[in-house]
Amino acid sequence: MFNSKITGLGFYVPDNVVTNDDLSKKMDTNDAWIQERTGIKERRHVIKGDGDTTTTMGVKAAQIAIDRSGIDKNDIDFIVFATLSPDYYFPGPGVLVQRDLDIKTVGALDVRNQCSGFVYALSIADQYIKTGMYKNVLVIGSELHSHGLDMTTRGRGVSVIFGDGAGAAIVSREEDPTKGILSTHLHSEGQHAEELSLIAPGMGKRWINDILEDNDPNDESYFPYMNGQFVFKNAVVRFSEVIIEGLKANNLEAKDIDMLVPHQANLRISQFIQKKFGLSDDQVFNNIMNYGNTTAASIPIALTEAWEMGKIKSGDLVVLAAFGSGFTWGSVIIRW
Ligand code: UT7
Repeated sequence: MFNSKITGLGFYVPDNVVTNDDLSKKMDTNDAWIQERTGIKERRHVIKGDGDTTTTMGVKAAQIAIDRSGIDKNDIDFIVFATLSPDYYFPGPGVLVQRDLDIKTVGALDVRNQCSGFVYALSIADQYIKTGMYKNVLVIGSELHSHGLDMTTRGRGVSVIFGDGAGAAIVSREEDPTKGILSTHLHSEGQHAEELSLIAPGMGKRWINDILEDNDPNDESYFPYMNGQFVFKNAVVRFSEVIIEGLKANNLEAKDIDMLVPHQANLRISQFIQKKFGLSDDQVFNNIMNYGNTTAASIPIALTEAWEMGKIKSGDLVVLAAFGSGFTWGSVIIRW
């Protein structure tokens, strides 16, 4: 058995900054409400016509991660792409990355686990490397939310939260068993699937043929729905559980954490977790203020920024934790 370690990180966000005041021109919201309830000050939105898509943003982040890892792109053995906002209904963006990066015909897997997508994707990469099947796996989380949100007052409970962007990691074989990804922990609870969901278009409740036939501009099933308070209550419980599970599996305690990078769902959730585990400001990384919630991209963007700022050093204990639609949640324990 080998271990796996992150050898390169990168992120990309579109240039277009959208402030809370910008949103208040489109819907009945305001900077004070958004900051107080979520901590978000601004987010990035792709401008139509600029050429950015979920795939192209993922490719840009991936290119940085590849360059920083020092591998040749043709040393990549496998691609895992996590998103809830793919360019196409099918095929998924994994193969589009393989094409755009002009990588040889390696396997490309698409992960559909929303806010937990990157944690799931990292776990998949880790398993392939641990078994010896692959040496280098490209893992991407990318989202283009902005053009799929209800930007009217009707959708304000969801649309002010989400932002666009991408993050990527190269996960490579590590011979030292005490270094790299120590363990990953994944969970789901499907009975709450619709509490944070986008129902249409699909082949369940809103068939594509129905949508075309009805052609109803007021059909809300095109937009994400979130039962915010219910999601919040579940998030704080599951985040805590899965961090404890990861620490216990490695005989570690909260005080051993050098850097916790939580999925950037809501600053209040991160602060609740920080307080619960008695962590200092230096032990938790947040950047939701600047990017909003970028779902599958949030952890790799935050991890990359923390690393770029020198907040993650060799030997540090880094904990990643996510919770989101599905419900799905998970954690990754890393000795950097
Ligand atoms: O990343 C995946 C996981 N996601 C999460 O973990 C998100 C979890 N949930 C949350 O972060 C919070 O529930 C929200 C930020 C989404 C909402 O905050 P809240 O404190 O739960 O607010 P609420 O939905 O209970 O709404 C309170 C009030 C309502 O008005 P009334 O009924 O009290 O008159 C809403 O209509 O705030 C109103 N409201 C807004 N007002 C101004 C909802 N959205 C907005 C808005 N601007 N954008």
